[in-house]
Amino acid sequence: MSNKTFTMIKPDAVANNHIGPILAKINEAGFRIVALKYTCLSPEKAAAFYEVHKERPFYNDLVKYMSSGPIVAVILEKANAIEDFRKLIGATDPAKAAPGTIRNLFAKSIEANAIHGSDSDANAEIEGSFFFSQMERF
Ligand code: RTP
Ligand code: MG
Repeated sequence: MSNKTFTMIKPDAVANNHIGPILAKINEAGFRIVALKYTCLSPEKAAAFYEVHKERPFYNDLVKYMSSGPIVAVILEKANAIEDFRKLIGATDPAKAAPGTIRNLFAKSIEANAIHGSDSDANAEIEGSFFFSQMERF
């Protein structure tokens, strides 16, 4: 998925009515929405999605949190998508996220941090395929 990335608006941001403002920020930054879905992650699916973090101390809490309410899954397109999107969302811990970044503006805590962004082309492809069929990826 070169020039594409995958994002999720996480349960805290959905619950706090931040879907609209976050999507506006994403569009203003030059990303085009390729596919979008309002859905829920079952605990099993959340566990699989974050399997890379299985050994981390925060894994069980993360799985619980990510399956606690609806999320919005989105595939985005832009030149240099992965890197530019990680810049747009800011550091994992909102207290450390640069001013104006999505996590700085909308995140509640290091766990409930409003938004996910893929960290590589390979992971964007894997993560996108969790939610969208080939047909849905325009
Ligand atoms: P993401 O994968 O969601 O885009 O976030 P990230 O790369 O910035 O951070 P990562 O290290 O991949 O962690 C994944 C998610 O786990 C939660 N987390 N909680 N309690 C904690 O210390 C802690 N650390 C990470 C966050 O929701 C983080 O986004
Ligand atoms: Mg990550």
